[in-house]
Amino acid sequence: MLIRPRRLRRTPAIRDLVAETDLRPRHLIQPYFIQQAVGAAQIESLPGIARTGIEETCRQVEADLKLGLKSILLFGVSAAKSPLAEHSHDPEGLVPQAVKELKKRFRQDLVVMTDVCLCAYTDHGHCGVVLDDEIQNDESVAILAEMALVHAQAGADVVAPSDMMDGRIAAIRARLDGEGWHNTAILSYAIKHGGAYYGPFRDAADSSPKFGDRRTYQMDPRNAREGLKDALLDLEEGADILMVKPGLHNLDLIWRLREMCLSPISSYHVSSEYSAVKAADRLGWVNGDQLMLEQLISLRRAGSDMIVTYAGREALQKNWIS
Ligand code: PBG
Ligand code: ZN
Repeated sequence: MLIRPRRLRRTPAIRDLVAETDLRPRHLIQPYFIQQAVGAAQIESLPGIARTGIEETCRQVEADLKLGLKSILLFGVSAAKSPLAEHSHDPEGLVPQAVKELKKRFRQDLVVMTDVCLCAYTDHGHCGVVLDDEIQNDESVAILAEMALVHAQAGADVVAPSDMMDGRIAAIRARLDGEGWHNTAILSYAIKHGGAYYGPFRDAADSSPKFGDRRTYQMDPRNAREGLKDALLDLEEGADILMVKPGLHNLDLIWRLREMCLSPISSYHVSSEYSAVKAADRLGWVNGDQLMLEQLISLRRAGSDMIVTYAGREALQKNWIS
């Protein structure tokens, strides 16, 4: 007797019946870039994504909610930059203001996550404070904890440190708890590799390092155990959700982390992964819509509970998923 696996691939309905992976609106987290100026400014290297002022952000979020997108991740685009990144933890800063406004309007209907990192606020563009050309770990962590607290006070549901300093999760948890913010969750960028992955994002956030690179804090893409070890450390330090980034380059790590822990795992479908599809689609070399969806599905299949992706809104607008 010939074994015939094709029996279960015969019709769309049968294929749906045996499908193992689901991608739903609730799995998607839409990034936002908050700018000072009113209105919206398209980001050339991130097609379809704009920097938006607070009012424009609220309007866009309202539209996203109607589509079924309930979770957003906010990045500040700051014109005010300084060696110690003072504006990163200004309670009247752009991101806290945006969070307050969003939570006032949308309350519990919306999950507001905020990026916690210094690179958009330092004059040199590194994710931490620099002294003698070296990134200072503990000084940076103290500022990051302050930034997280300011976001929590503004009403953020989740703070998401992306800086990659050591001990930041414990420091942020302690600072939040010390001030009574027990209910603010931490999504840790637990595994984050350094490389060419983030170019379009840095255009969007104006956060490129002015000298050197990020290799003394982001992880070496040749390593797998390094990231898994760090992810477990983040859990011990109090992280509620672990993120793997860039997602598509690290499907192995998403999978291995899934086997190693019981916490929710997010992946980040990063800017270069998104923009590469858009560019190839423009050239007519790939079917961008289909390819984008297939990428998101593979992130889910590897074990991501949720995905940060620039394609979230488009996926729902174009009914790739519902
Ligand atoms: C800031 C940050 C970066 C991303 C998320 N947070 C850029 C970087 O580390 O240089 C990248 C996201 C993307 O490329 O979409 N620390
Ligand atoms: Zn950074």
